[in-house]
Amino acid sequence: MRSKASINGHPIHPILVAFPIAFFTGTLLFDVVAILFDLPGFGLMAGYLAIAGIVCALLAAVPGIIDYFFTVPPQSSAKKRAARHGLLNITVVLLFATAVVIRHRVASPMPVIAIELVAIVLLTFAGYMGGTLVYRNQIGVYNRYADKGIWQEGSVQATSGKTEVANANELKTGHMKLVHAGDKRIVIAKTETGYVAFDDRCTHRGGSLMGGVLICNTVQCPWHGSQFDVTTGAVKAGPATEKINTYPINEDGGKLYLVL
Ligand code: FES
Repeated sequence: MRSKASINGHPIHPILVAFPIAFFTGTLLFDVVAILFDLPGFGLMAGYLAIAGIVCALLAAVPGIIDYFFTVPPQSSAKKRAARHGLLNITVVLLFATAVVIRHRVASPMPVIAIELVAIVLLTFAGYMGGTLVYRNQIGVYNRYADKGIWQEGSVQATSGKTEVANANELKTGHMKLVHAGDKRIVIAKTETGYVAFDDRCTHRGGSLMGGVLICNTVQCPWHGSQFDVTTGAVKAGPATEKINTYPINEDGGKLYLVL
């Protein structure tokens, strides 16, 4: 699903995280070299690298937080994973900040190195989770298969009854548009047989169906492949076992109206 913090569809967070990873790893390596070869200059450089790592980590956190709140599907396994990923990274930053503060106050460099080592182990776990968020949950992956069209998204007032959600000509057959109506995320789409509207949430683990594939009145979840009939919401293939909600939608005078 397309990142909300991106440039031309390229998510910013994965670009920026390379910097704190490099600086924090370099901090530990320079501190180890300083001890092994008795090179105080390396220890001094390690301190600067740690500060650079903290600054870059805070910068990288900004698009990460935006994606956490506005890209990762709510009530999904990815939301929990993203929360753990963020908490681990905050811990890493706090540990390196602690190492910076105590660096010149302790007689031996060993406590500093021990803290940095723990932080690097946590950073590795956080990176592993970040990889899972991208490669499995496809957070920030802007996958547009042939004829799927560009990512379309909009918001409407969540009023009960008929709500205008799009111009009919915005959607070609097979195209989907994500509509935010209050706290509901509803996908409207045009299929071979007409317009449909259904919840964006896969009932298996909360994957965004907007990021999936729609063909012949069937939408396939991008996370584990569950398939749903978009006209009835029925499960056509698991692992999901519960149907998705569908909504009445009709065209009138070139406009599409959703009935909530
Ligand atoms: S979240 Fe697992 S198939 Fe959709």
